Amino acid sequence: MTANELRSKYIAFFKSKGHAEISGKSLIPENDPSVLFTTAGMHPLVPYLLGEKHPAGTRLTDYQKCVRTGDIDEVGDPSHLTCFEMLGNWSLGDYFKKESIAFSYEFLTSKDWLALDPRKISVTVFAGDANAPRDEDAANYWKENGMPEDKIAYLPASDNWWAAGPTGPCGPDTEIFYWVGEGLPPKGSNKGTDPENWMEIWNNVFMQFNRIDEKTLVPLPKQNVDTGMGLERTNCILQGKTSVYLTEVFKPIIDTIEKLSNYTYGTDAEKDKSVRIIADHSRSAVFILGDQKGVSPSNVGAGYVLRRLIRRAVRHGMKLGIDRAFLAEIAETVIENFKCAYPELEENREKVFNELTAEENKFRDTLKKGEAEFQKLLPNLMKNPKKEISGKVAFRLYDTFGFPLELTQELGAENGFTVDVEGFKEAEKKHQELSRTQSAGTFKGGLAERSEITTKYHTATHLLQAALRQVLGPHVAQKGSNITEERMRFDFSHPAPMTKEEIKQVENLVNEQIKRNLPVKMEIMSLDDAKKSGATALFGEKYESNVKVYTIGDFSKEVCGGPHVENTGNLGTFVITKEQSSSAGVRRIKAVLK
Ligand code: ALA
Repeated sequence: MTANELRSKYIAFFKSKGHAEISGKSLIPENDPSVLFTTAGMHPLVPYLLGEKHPAGTRLTDYQKCVRTGDIDEVGDPSHLTCFEMLGNWSLGDYFKKESIAFSYEFLTSKDWLALDPRKISVTVFAGDANAPRDEDAANYWKENGMPEDKIAYLPASDNWWAAGPTGPCGPDTEIFYWVGEGLPPKGSNKGTDPENWMEIWNNVFMQFNRIDEKTLVPLPKQNVDTGMGLERTNCILQGKTSVYLTEVFKPIIDTIEKLSNYTYGTDAEKDKSVRIIADHSRSAVFILGDQKGVSPSNVGAGYVLRRLIRRAVRHGMKLGIDRAFLAEIAETVIENFKCAYPELEENREKVFNELTAEENKFRDTLKKGEAEFQKLLPNLMKNPKKEISGKVAFRLYDTFGFPLELTQELGAENGFTVDVEGFKEAEKKHQELSRTQSAGTFKGGLAERSEITTKYHTATHLLQAALRQVLGPHVAQKGSNITEERMRFDFSHPAPMTKEEIKQVENLVNEQIKRNLPVKMEIMSLDDAKKSGATALFGEKYESNVKVYTIGDFSKEVCGGPHVENTGNLGTFVITKEQSSSAGVRRIKAVLK
């Protein structure tokens, strides 16, 4: 079975169980500053897991491209990936543990579906703590399906409690593992007794709680199921391979790297690792650059992650002796192989090639500059009798000039120096701790946290867009939106700065609608009907066939996932605090509700 077949089978199976297929979303979460990337299939579904009605119903299935860069340093081993596909199915207050476990077991073992050997499957369930009891229900349902008792491990929250972030929907889970050791698993072997030989392939989360803050967990209005199966890993075991890199998902990419480097994969352990890093990172970079929301390399947020991925790939390319820009050639292979499942890659083809090559060339320049900087430091370094470059200096070269440690070591060695690697790691750790503390703040205000104030800002965003269209003209289209507890930000197409009068007019118009205390009404309709009814929709965004349309009195009508207030009356006073350029032809407004 190929990965493409697995993807189709998964969707077909859950459709046969009454699930509606929805389309996966962008890698960049809409309106959610809490994370840089979509990290799980459930991510775009957070509002629905929290209780909002989904237009496609209560049983859903999809495949979703995801990026997780938390374990970027582990990439290079046979199973870790920064970009992967998650196959998912959801129950929004519909079925719960019993059906979820039965569906998973049937899909994995039935001859009509994956036909995996049940003897090679084991599971874990939640061992229980102060938040929720030991999950005997889940264990019993597994047994009902034929899972022997000794293949069920009860593990603590660190293993069997799942949450996408520090706040938001969460709950105990049951995870499914496949035996990757020799032959058949010995009697009594499970994830608890033999963690190395069991590979996780699927996670079924029983989402019953909403975490408000570190200490507070409140039950959700409905009991949901959120599952995620790793496409690449499951494909790998279906093909009896020992590594995802040996499957057809990565094989064409690795073939391209072999051609570019004249190196044959499988002949040198260190070089093999470089090949895997290039394969993984370049595939991720293509998915991020080619996303429908299009991120470009930069020094902040998602753009910075993208930059790191590209740079690391280039570095490892150099290690393999590739001495020219090469990522665009790999991108060609990636696009060719994934464009059917992700047509946006093909649509953004030129952008992907251009930006990859530009970034790659820029990095090669950076390396040259770093080398020059190193030469400048040399006379001072020479004075050091220990002939050692301090960790601090090495880290500064890395942090400020993007000059990698290995290169400082190489150049150092050429001049008779060693580098204090421990000191470098310490400096790096300090830096990471600092950025972690800083980014912890960004977890507030995401979709997961539908506080009263962020909900008000969502509604105010609709009023603002309608007002802008009235004052500036119908060419105004939303280009981006971001909401925190403190303010809203709205990007829209408009060729010139707004005049003071225009800003005042827009502000007044929004405030008038607030005073009119207009009702906010939600209807579910087909996308065609929504368009016919004159609703505004985000250009370029993929929608399900049925969408939610929010109407605010006679003033605004927009396709949107919500959440929104019921009446505009208590939004407060709308004040535009800034109007500025965002990019060519796009203006940005920041506003507050007072
Ligand atoms: N949301 C769950 C996960 O990502 C299924 O593992």
